[in-house]
Amino acid sequence: MTNERIEELIQELTLQEKADMIHGNELFATKGVERLGIPPFRTSDGPMGVRKEFKKDTWSDIGLSYDTVSYLPSNTALAATWNRELAYETGKILGKETRGRGKDMILAPGINIMRTPLCGRSFEYMGEDPYLAAEMVVPLIKGIEENDVSSCVKHFALNNQETRRLDVNVEVSERALREIYLPAFEAAIKKGKAKGIMGAYNKLRGQHCCHNDYLLNHILREEWGFEGITVSDWGGVHDTEEALTNGLDMEMSVTNNFNEYFLADPLIKLIEEGTVDREAALAKIDEKVRHILHVMNALHMLDGERYAGTYNDIRDKEAIRQTARESVVLLKNDKSILPLDAKKVKKLLVIGDNANRMQAPGGGSAEIKALYELTPLMGFYMVLGGNTEITYKTGYFNDDIGNIWADTSDSGNGQADSLNQDKPEHAKAEADKKAEEEKKRAYRKEKNEQCMKEALEAAKDADAVIYVGGLTHDYDTEGQDRADMKLPYEQDRLISELLAVRPDTIVIIQAGSPVDMSAWVDKADTLCYSWYAGMEGGYALAEVVFGLVNPSGRLPETFPVTESDCSAVVLGEFPGGDSVTYGEDIFVGYRYYDTYDVKTAFPFGYGLSYTDFILSGLSARVLEDTAENKRVEICFSISNIGDRAGAEVAQIYIADKFPKVKKAAKELRAFEKIYLDAGETKQLTLELGAEAFSYYDEAEGRFKVDAGDYMILLARSADEVVDVTDVRLSAN
Ligand code: BGC
Repeated sequence: MTNERIEELIQELTLQEKADMIHGNELFATKGVERLGIPPFRTSDGPMGVRKEFKKDTWSDIGLSYDTVSYLPSNTALAATWNRELAYETGKILGKETRGRGKDMILAPGINIMRTPLCGRSFEYMGEDPYLAAEMVVPLIKGIEENDVSSCVKHFALNNQETRRLDVNVEVSERALREIYLPAFEAAIKKGKAKGIMGAYNKLRGQHCCHNDYLLNHILREEWGFEGITVSDWGGVHDTEEALTNGLDMEMSVTNNFNEYFLADPLIKLIEEGTVDREAALAKIDEKVRHILHVMNALHMLDGERYAGTYNDIRDKEAIRQTARESVVLLKNDKSILPLDAKKVKKLLVIGDNANRMQAPGGGSAEIKALYELTPLMGFYMVLGGNTEITYKTGYFNDDIGNIWADTSDSGNGQADSLNQDKPEHAKAEADKKAEEEKKRAYRKEKNEQCMKEALEAAKDADAVIYVGGLTHDYDTEGQDRADMKLPYEQDRLISELLAVRPDTIVIIQAGSPVDMSAWVDKADTLCYSWYAGMEGGYALAEVVFGLVNPSGRLPETFPVTESDCSAVVLGEFPGGDSVTYGEDIFVGYRYYDTYDVKTAFPFGYGLSYTDFILSGLSARVLEDTAENKRVEICFSISNIGDRAGAEVAQIYIADKFPKVKKAAKELRAFEKIYLDAGETKQLTLELGAEAFSYYDEAEGRFKVDAGDYMILLARSADEVVDVTDVRLSAN
């Protein structure tokens, strides 16, 4: 459809029809205008696949037999692969399934920065580093949007905690905003060309992000040139006038009083009663409709042939499995116990509730009704076949339902109830829940003892013992943060006792965010981290354990020893009260641990392999150094000196030698995942631009390179620099 025709359509639409297009008329869709051939705009969650179908006006599961989908690795798992190609492949599948399920927009990906390890939704995001998140989100969006569907990057911006997420106000310096919290969104819009973006629930500098003038009008539209659709988070709108003028295009919510939404009847009333300037208001509404129509047009919703999509395509299984494989992070292998030799393990003992738990249905809006999910236990059975006797013990007692939204103590409408988070009724319900919990505790304690005893007993008589514990979506979930990083269900005690009986136990932690392992980590020789890695996750993990796959995942976030080491917690600015001041400024994640010499459990970028690599011969050459442009070429070589093929992630950090302003000790500015056969060597050349050496100058209101000497660090993690060189640059 031509632009002229779109403009004509805008003229032909009545005010009521326009209002209907800019607010939800179902929980996940707006109203179309049949007489003009404009269809409703259909959205669906979310990041790990297309969510199940709900009724149009209540959150009841329709119970269809045909809305199961591919359960994709979570964004944290994806980020742990450090593989841009896999991000693209994952995006392609997500987009294809979005379209296959008849939707126009997928409410993904989530890319908020992990400010603390306690944020309940960390598993939906891409870790703590803006560069890594930006590099991974761009191909992911491109993959999604190849399928005549729109992505919806969320939550814009600063939704870094779940506690009081609906109204907490964030105060952050302009520099931290620009350097830490916005780069991934900027890349998603400018390089990924995302057609949709979702406002966050929280406020920034006193104004709700869903109608935040600075974020939406100024930064997103004016600075970044965004022309797509801005969608509110569900129930994130609080004011009609602000929603009208501050850059929001589409209001969505969790309740079914659709006509009462801020951009529905109240908007029309505002205009009819003359509370606002009529002409200006109508022009604003036209602008919203224009954004929507242009996106609809780009998705071939208005005319032309539209891609049909499909879901559960068997051909996508390999990419899903490969992503899961590459996401596994080997943290310790001190005695080279891994990989296990399947031929030698005649009796295998598997302990831990997560070994046998389906994780897909939990987490809040990221829940997935998966076509299937291979648990780790299933993976071990599949890889080992009939020659190994596998015994399974839960080890600890977990009778949680596995999904906070499934808790029907409120209205049964988890997402609507989440909006009541700060109301007195909610506090009472929470207190009742706590009392109930107290009662259950004694019973659970007894059960736990029994499970533990059985596991420890069985451990004495097995060729190999694998422990699979960690968190579930009762902890990694929307709507609540964790109180601390401790493992639930007395797992610390169990793992410690297990390691005393069987020091060769392979400990596998499956979780979406870092956990405190200090109680036993020094005693564990073998430790592996697996995330919510999708429907093939359990099988991929088993392949790693038994050496069919060489692990190549790297941590996308620092694992602090405990939460109290994290900068926001040190400052007492998490989770805060009405307002949270990000006093740690740019010192988030490794930027803090590194600069302030805080010992971590495992550093950002860390992960082992079954083979060994040597990274060396780093050199740098300034190709161009003008005020307009900077180009620095970096060369190094990498060799696989072990006896099996594998992949290393070469990480390039930059450090300003004599900073004029306070800067982090170093910052990730490039990386490359390199696959090498045993004995193979490769030469690599990368190019860095001005942005690799710049910081945000608040006084000048721009990113800037200071004249001076910069160290270029070739590293295997934030803690292991293997080679260093220098370049001198002029200012820009
Ligand atoms: C979440 C969003 C989600 C929306 C729709 C909200 O509670 O914050 O991420 O896309 O619900 O389900």
